[in-house]
Amino acid sequence: MMAAARLSFSDITALAPMVRVGTLPMRLLALDYGADVVYCEELIDIKMVQCQRVVNEVLETVDFVAPDDRVMFRTCKREKDRVVFQMGTADPDRALAVARLVEKDVAAIDVNMGCPKEYSTKGGMGAALLSDPDKIEAILKKLVTGVSKPVTCKIRILPSLEETISLVQRIEKTGVTAIAVHGRFKEERPRHPVHCDYIQAVAQAISIPVIANGGSLDLVKTNSDIEEFRKATGTSSVMLARAAMWNASVFTRQGPLPVEKVMEEYLKYAIRYDNNAFNTKYCLCQMLRDKVESPLGKQVQAAQTNADISEAYGLQDFYQQTLEQLQTRRGALQSSSQPDRPIMDGDVTTMAVKFERREYPPQITPKMFLLEWSRKEKLEQPQYETVQRSQDRAFQSTVTVAEKKYRSSLWEKSKKFAEQAAAIVCLRILGIPEGRIGEEDSGLVCKRKREGRMNGTTEEDVSKKRHVADILHSTETSEPTVVANGDGHKPTTPEKPPESPEQLTL
Ligand SMILES: Cc1cc2nc3c(=O)[nH]c(=O)nc-3n(C[C@H](O)[C@H](O)[C@H](O)COP(=O)(O)O)c2cc1C
Repeated sequence: MMAAARLSFSDITALAPMVRVGTLPMRLLALDYGADVVYCEELIDIKMVQCQRVVNEVLETVDFVAPDDRVMFRTCKREKDRVVFQMGTADPDRALAVARLVEKDVAAIDVNMGCPKEYSTKGGMGAALLSDPDKIEAILKKLVTGVSKPVTCKIRILPSLEETISLVQRIEKTGVTAIAVHGRFKEERPRHPVHCDYIQAVAQAISIPVIANGGSLDLVKTNSDIEEFRKATGTSSVMLARAAMWNASVFTRQGPLPVEKVMEEYLKYAIRYDNNAFNTKYCLCQMLRDKVESPLGKQVQAAQTNADISEAYGLQDFYQQTLEQLQTRRGALQSSSQPDRPIMDGDVTTMAVKFERREYPPQITPKMFLLEWSRKEKLEQPQYETVQRSQDRAFQSTVTVAEKKYRSSLWEKSKKFAEQAAAIVCLRILGIPEGRIGEEDSGLVCKRKREGRMNGTTEEDVSKKRHVADILHSTETSEPTVVANGDGHKPTTPEKPPESPEQLTL
């Protein structure tokens, strides 16, 4: 197979990294409108290293999911060759661990060295790195040698031109592919004019591509202004933050399109990719700008779910259809998934199993079998934990046995059935009979029959049952591919309010 071409940073127009704004819907929208490269929001290394990479087959995304089930970073095939993963870090080893985690799902890795906010600088990240060039060098060198994708960084300018040039020359030597330069000093606010002369001097001093940034407020208002900004900074590449946040159609030559149209397209992506509702709201409010207090703005602000937001924009039908399509896909995935194949969902072993009452003799259930077996093995009683989802009131149960968790990926109509399904999963994984009619070695059924006949107990034949240690060992070592089905993971971005029930159910 041919390796994909490395992402080039010359002659590009990019969507800049923006916390909260640069999530998947905005990145896809920017690509639609003509951005060549899209940066994700800055994600902090400490949070990212704890994430698990999960393939979400329903949404057709790759999710990086935190231990608390939050989706820290969601990406998809469409942007794979265009998305730059930006991280906040002050630690070379952690930076490398994060880069390796996301490497195969993104086009490049970027380190944020320009954020002046306290939450970033107090950990030695962001703009704090600018005064620690040794640390910059250590981080970038580690990344350049440690990953196969291009590595870039985004800086602000230093108090003097000489210092700025000496820093970028040192950065160039680490082997990075490009440097984005936000033409403002650390202390300057976004309202201050951008220093195009600094960016120009940097572009002349190094030979790797320089991406000019900082022109949104005073210079870049329309697509043709991008060209002017390129000329003013002497760079071939430009990166836009606020201009794109306000109206992403700034990337299109035909633009700008009316912001109402842009908001609608944005919302469609947010629905399609089950974006966190509070994140969706936040982005729409940025686009509404001075209209945030209009009747539409107030409706958006009051919304709690993506369904509410869709209503505000008259997109209820789109919302409903998309939801149905996703449900259908989930159903198809569940029925096509081989029921015997266990799939890890976080730390839970799952199988697509349904409890069919008619398959078991009266008064015999898998739960009874599991209890009986646990007692025999001197294990704690199985613990069941059941959740109910709001959209159809269906139940799903997780059973814990010997500190391992088991669950059916299929939802049941009652709590009792959900528990039975979870018990079946556990029994099947451990290779223990479950009491089904016609099942070989159905110990409990035999026992009950014997009890009926002899009014006494006989030792069950346990020879076919594997010892718990063997069984648990075998499930650990034959760790299956991690595949999620879209249930339960709450898409979100850092520092956001809690998710709506909607996200829990999709
Ligand atoms: C809402 C918002 C969030 C931002 N988040 C980040 C970030 O995560 N990482 C980063 O390097 N810069 C971040 N920035 C700074 C921008 O990337 C950019 O450098 C700055 O806004 C100047 O560019 P502009 O004039 O095109 O807006 C953010 C800016 C805004 C407005």
